[in-house]
Amino acid sequence: MAKPTEGAARGPIRSDKRESGQARHARLYVNGLDRPIELPILKPSLGQDVIDIGRLTGKGYFTYDPGFVSTASCDSNITFIDGDAGTLLHRGYPIEQLAEQSDFLELCYLLLHGGLPSAADKAAFNAAVMSERGVPDGVRAMIAQFSPGAHPMGIMTALTGALAAEYHEGLDITDEADRMATAQRLIAKMPSLAALTYRHGKGKGYLAPRDDLNYAENFLYTTFAEDENYEINPVIARAMDRIFMLHADHEQNASTSTVRLAGSTGTNPYSAIAAGIAALWGPSHGGANEAVLQMLAEIGSPENIDTFVAKAKDKDDPFRIMGFGHRVYKNYDPRAKVMQETCHEVLAELGVESDPMLVMAQRLEKIALEDEYFIERRLYPNVDFYSGITLKAVGIPTEMFTVIFTTGRTPGWIAHWREMVSEPYKIGRPRQLYLGQTKRDYVPIEHRP
Ligand code: SDX
Repeated sequence: MAKPTEGAARGPIRSDKRESGQARHARLYVNGLDRPIELPILKPSLGQDVIDIGRLTGKGYFTYDPGFVSTASCDSNITFIDGDAGTLLHRGYPIEQLAEQSDFLELCYLLLHGGLPSAADKAAFNAAVMSERGVPDGVRAMIAQFSPGAHPMGIMTALTGALAAEYHEGLDITDEADRMATAQRLIAKMPSLAALTYRHGKGKGYLAPRDDLNYAENFLYTTFAEDENYEINPVIARAMDRIFMLHADHEQNASTSTVRLAGSTGTNPYSAIAAGIAALWGPSHGGANEAVLQMLAEIGSPENIDTFVAKAKDKDDPFRIMGFGHRVYKNYDPRAKVMQETCHEVLAELGVESDPMLVMAQRLEKIALEDEYFIERRLYPNVDFYSGITLKAVGIPTEMFTVIFTTGRTPGWIAHWREMVSEPYKIGRPRQLYLGQTKRDYVPIEHRP
């Protein structure tokens, strides 16, 4: 009998930031104050030290950090990214090892529970998730209200919000069993909503999941099958599972921060996730994989690449190379390497290695990686650069790419929500640098010029 793996215990493993130890203090000298403001420095288990600025307000100051480039919004035990080293760890395990040896549902367990499951825990978790794949009738009926051309991300935002309506009565977010049931339900239902959304666009009806298929196989079946005879290609199914894994969590990115901020009001967790979906849709974030394909189509042929690279470098031109650059990775995104391998496997399996989009992407990547502008700014391909080409080859339409990202990211979102609400937390309420009008009196209309 395999020894239960480290951290397979139930519930989130979380060190208290007070245990992180205070390495030392930062001293902030401000003109007019007769002594410096002492700010404790918190020591992480990995990564940069953090200056705790909480007491600044009491001294009459805010900090100013648009885009939160230098701000840690919370403490967390779930995922660590080292942008310089190109490292991504989920509960300490490197994404490369997980993508190679694990599977998506096991990664969901890891993100939620803090350790790898024993065989029994894994079987129980999978069964619990699989039992929740059905879509409530009310939510299913909604799909017919959308026009055939409705964007799938708008539909997913609406359907996930509708889950909030369905699962609100009796939901107690202070109860760990309710929190875990919500997490399992969302992980289970997202691929069902994605498949329903895709089939609506094709004028096809809902197809119930099959008990003999795993998570990724069921996604392919409920999305593409005409009937029970649908053939699952194991290479494609493994690729889909790996794509879900590569998108599962990524620390405090824009959509996860949205889920945390929405969740900090105590709102229904399904609504917080719907807010995360809305944030992910943006082309600077999860919408980038759709934007990569649109960009490659716009470039049109390898002969035009140099012209578009010049546009990307032109300050006055809004064009950017989609799928390139990252707020945190100033080295290769470790997910992009795995995604590139998966892309080659899928295209080889389908006999389309010379797919013109892939040829163009590889040429664009080579040119950009050798160009001073990109080297100087440490701009590398991110996870979105190759995911779009892979998904297109699998038969997923471009407008569905971010829906796949949504399905993959759901465990990360709900793990962060659960980590936050499992302990005492404050409502998120940033302040501002006000540059507007100073106080002035109202002028009746007859006295105005
Ligand atoms: C995801 O945060 C996450 O973790 C996100 C994510 C996750 O898993 O949740 O990893 C998923 O969102 C990946 C990123 C997908 N987005 C794209 O691929 C869109 C294209 N990339 C850019 O929009 C941009 O790189 C961002 C938005 C991703 C990051 O932008 P930053 O950190 O705000 O960087 P910046 O805009 O300040 O750029 C720094 C410099 C600028 O030039 P200078 O002003 O210094 O001269 O780099 C340039 C930018 O103009 N630059 C690019 C570029 N990205 C940045 N120039 C050309 N093409 C690009 N793609």
